[in-house]
Amino acid sequence: MIGILENGMIKVGIVGGTGYTGVELLRLLAQHPEVELTAITSRTEAGMPVAEMFPSLRGRVALKFTTPDEAKLNECDVVFFATPHGVAMAQAKELLANNVKILDLAADFRLKDIKEFAKWYGMEHTCPEILAEAVYGLAEINREAIKKARIVGLAGCYPTSVQLGLAPLLSPKSTGGKHLIDGTHIISDSKSGTSGAGRKAEIGTLLSEASDNFKAYSVKGHRHLPEIEQGLKAIAGHDQIGLTFVPHLTPMIRGIHSTLYVRLTEAGKDVDYQKLYENFYKDEPFVDVMPAGSHPETRSVRGSNGIRIAIHRPGGGDTLVILVVEDNLVKGASGQGVQCMNLMFGLPETMGLTQIAVSP
Ligand SMILES: NC(=O)c1ccc[n+]([C@@H]2O[C@H](COP(=O)([O-])OP(=O)(O)OC[C@H]3O[C@@H](n4cnc5c(N)ncnc54)[C@H](OP(=O)(O)O)[C@@H]3O)[C@@H](O)[C@H]2O)c1
Repeated sequence: MIGILENGMIKVGIVGGTGYTGVELLRLLAQHPEVELTAITSRTEAGMPVAEMFPSLRGRVALKFTTPDEAKLNECDVVFFATPHGVAMAQAKELLANNVKILDLAADFRLKDIKEFAKWYGMEHTCPEILAEAVYGLAEINREAIKKARIVGLAGCYPTSVQLGLAPLLSPKSTGGKHLIDGTHIISDSKSGTSGAGRKAEIGTLLSEASDNFKAYSVKGHRHLPEIEQGLKAIAGHDQIGLTFVPHLTPMIRGIHSTLYVRLTEAGKDVDYQKLYENFYKDEPFVDVMPAGSHPETRSVRGSNGIRIAIHRPGGGDTLVILVVEDNLVKGASGQGVQCMNLMFGLPETMGLTQIAVSP
């Protein structure tokens, strides 16, 4: 293992250390036995000790924030970008040239089609050649490719819940190539806590706007839609995928709950879906297929890298309902990043990620 045997601790830099995913990376990496945090950036808080902004890290993180220019990112073994889209792609070439691995929490290295990227993110992709080699960071689906990757575009928060919720129904590994569901009419009714919108000031996430309230948004098209469709097509190995994706903002801080509706085909009517899901995920340390009839709660994964899934077939009919919960900041972002980092450095995949969810 590179980190343990050859080079000592893995030197980690974080660009965007003051945001919600940034502080979540700090929480996880400060407890990781093979990691030495070496650089944390903030343009607005440069000079401030990290533990002054986040007292939860007092005694655990001794670094100060530095500007991205002052941070010695080229001397790191790996850099996480916990920044808005467009930041990682501006620095990727130089970092890779200095043998620094990259994990981007934003969308720069997720969509493979640069026209789609420009359409949904309102900017041209500046390094398509690096995008071509980037691996999509969803360990349960892309484990072997992530192990060999220099650069990983981590899966988005909603896309993680939807893809892992549907993978057993689409992957030829579990379907044997049969079309068990009508893949062209999938519905994903997804809800997120307000931390999904980041730490920046916005009217919609003010306490008096978001608490005691519940609403859908971006129904005509959300940026995660093309990412989910791209991922589902790759899992299925064909292009006949159509998704209606409706995200909602809920009055909680952390958590995503996706309720997925699929119509079974004739070929899919006699399948034991509980068994299918249990088999598909039997060796996955972070995916829990709950007993039949369960109703997973977001608080059962809060603060942990776990994702819990329950399968229902109401009235024994031809509609399957899959319930999925995850913590958007952990399995939906920073925990997923640490999981992929472990794979990239040959470490046990669960290292630093064994926290039990915080309840109540
Ligand atoms: N929140 C979630 O649940 C979630 C889940 C999955 C993925 N993501 C993605 O992860 C990324 C970070 O999300 P977040 O929620 O942590 O955002 P956030 O709370 O808004 O934080 C953004 C961070 O990026 C820094 N930053 C902003 N512009 C920058 C620039 N041009 N150069 C360098 N640093 C810059 C900010 O610090 P300064 O302005 O001080 O430099 C801040 O630390 C986003 O792309 C988001 O889509 C978020």
